[in-house]
Amino acid sequence: MSERTLVLIKPDAVRRSLVGEVLARFERKGLSIVAMDLRMVDEVTADRHYAEHVDRDFYPPLRAFVTSGPLVAMVLEGDQAIAVVRAINGATDGRAAAAGTIRGDFSLSNRENLVHASDSPESAAREIAIFFPDL
Ligand code: CMP
Repeated sequence: MSERTLVLIKPDAVRRSLVGEVLARFERKGLSIVAMDLRMVDEVTADRHYAEHVDRDFYPPLRAFVTSGPLVAMVLEGDQAIAVVRAINGATDGRAAAAGTIRGDFSLSNRENLVHASDSPESAAREIAIFFPDL
């Protein structure tokens, strides 16, 4: 079943000039880009996006990180896109993520892990509405 998912190529990936590398992996898999935008995220938007994490110990540095520079927000579409994108991204902690995944190949961090992707259809609908309200 075709699904849409919200993907963020985070500021660490932009700073490290890995946008093309990351995007190529999604495109080669066969996912379609429905929307894509390089932008700064402000603290209000970060708090909305990470609403389930705002009370966690790791949230203040996470917010500082996601607002630290431009990121690439996008909506990807395809068959089972939510699960497929999460598999391509790998485990949250780049140190534990499997080789061959984006995080496994390029991240040594639990925070600066290059990409975010929606984890369920409900999250995808909520997150797409935050970043691309006109879709
Ligand atoms: P993401 O998939 O965007 O979802 C929540 C983010 O919080 C996660 O990627 C990491 O960037 C960050 N994160 C999750 N757990 C931790 C942690 N234990 N320490 C630091 N950052 C974390």
